[in-house]
Amino acid sequence: MKAWQGRFVTGSSDLLEKFNASIGFDYKLFSQDIKGSIAHSSMLQAIGVITENECATIQDGLLSIESELSNRINQGETNFDVKYEDIHMMIESMLVEKVGDVGKKLHTARSRNDQVAVDLRLYTISKILGIQKLTFELMKVLIELSEAYLDDILPGYTHLQRAQPVRLGFHLMTYFQMFKRDYERFSDTLKRTSVLPLGSGALAGVNYETNRDLLKKLLAFNELSDHAMDAVSDRDFVIEFNSTAAILMMHLSRFSEELILWSSSEYAFVEISDAFSTGSSIMPQKKNPDVAELVRGKTGRVYGNLMGILTVMKGLPLAYNKDMQEDKEGLFDTVETLEMCLEVFTAMLGEIKFNTEKMKIAAKLGYLNATDLADYLVLKGLPFRDCHHITGNIVKKCIQLGCAIEELSMDELKQFSVAFESDVYAYLELDTVVEGKKSFGSTSKKSTLQMIENAKSYIEQL
Ligand code: ARG
Repeated sequence: MKAWQGRFVTGSSDLLEKFNASIGFDYKLFSQDIKGSIAHSSMLQAIGVITENECATIQDGLLSIESELSNRINQGETNFDVKYEDIHMMIESMLVEKVGDVGKKLHTARSRNDQVAVDLRLYTISKILGIQKLTFELMKVLIELSEAYLDDILPGYTHLQRAQPVRLGFHLMTYFQMFKRDYERFSDTLKRTSVLPLGSGALAGVNYETNRDLLKKLLAFNELSDHAMDAVSDRDFVIEFNSTAAILMMHLSRFSEELILWSSSEYAFVEISDAFSTGSSIMPQKKNPDVAELVRGKTGRVYGNLMGILTVMKGLPLAYNKDMQEDKEGLFDTVETLEMCLEVFTAMLGEIKFNTEKMKIAAKLGYLNATDLADYLVLKGLPFRDCHHITGNIVKKCIQLGCAIEELSMDELKQFSVAFESDVYAYLELDTVVEGKKSFGSTSKKSTLQMIENAKSYIEQL
């Protein structure tokens, strides 16, 4: 007999039981559910609904169920009987079995609707904090790499065409900026997740003078939900978490794509360590960047989970609907995917070797100093548009001759403009070009060092 079966004449179909059950995945919420129930029973005692003894009996029972479930799950048991329906009903029936009728008082002034909402919020809060720690580790490695490769120069690209030379440290700090924003987005998501729904009942509130402030304190939430119906209908925090995760994965995926390109023989800018590469079953020479490829691939499933929950929620009338049980698997999958991707990606980066010689050679080829040549002519008093045109003609000539701009003689240069003087050669050197970038946030040494310093003080205060 199920807890809700009083008004039913016949029992459930086996098919219904299998289809309806969420215990197959929401068992992952067991410790949150117990935490929520312990707080709820303390509150019931505080307002005189249950006695001190009853409260102690309930809480002792819950704690022993928690260690029992934790042991069973750690040993790999996850196929709990669908007759329990979900984790909330399973824990409640285990409690009644353990402590007798007093266990039946626990659900006073509570509905599964506010119960599942509080469980899922507790879960999301703890996962956000864990993912922020992993993001922090990634940011730390990026700072270390940027410092180590501060003085190495590679081509910066636009349209995947060599554009202007940049410092490798500067290039890598771009990713730091992305993950910093991700970190902040998680802090922001946390604000709206740490809102306590417990005490809202099924949808309209409960017939008891509950002390929701006490619940908030006991469960360490930042805020109380203001509106009972909103509290049980809202899954914005799940959507927001999935969306923040999707953006972070997009960043990891761009980084992965770059590492995949860079580890091809065509670039040969990077060597991923053996420990984080795989081989081919047929081609003995192969060393494949599978980690980066899988991270790029797993970005797809995280996007899928976001689209899934957005679509589940889009047609739901108020308040709770069973559709909302579909909020969990995507959330759990996103959490587990993100944790794994962040961890393995950071470890892989920790062992990466950049081929700085190759990068430098690439930066010297491809007329990456053309913009600087135009700027040189601006310094000599010509309008930028004319300088751009003249430089374009020079590049055309160099392509015909198969040489670099700095390989043209003074006489050859003068044919394009009389403004050229012998100081132009120093102006065209790779280091001069990079150091010529004077604007705030540029690739110059001073500016990149400043970014690294800022990044260090940023992560120190996290
Ligand atoms: N297993 C359910 C879920 O995850 C718990 C809430 C059930 N509430 C209800 N009114 N049937 O959504």
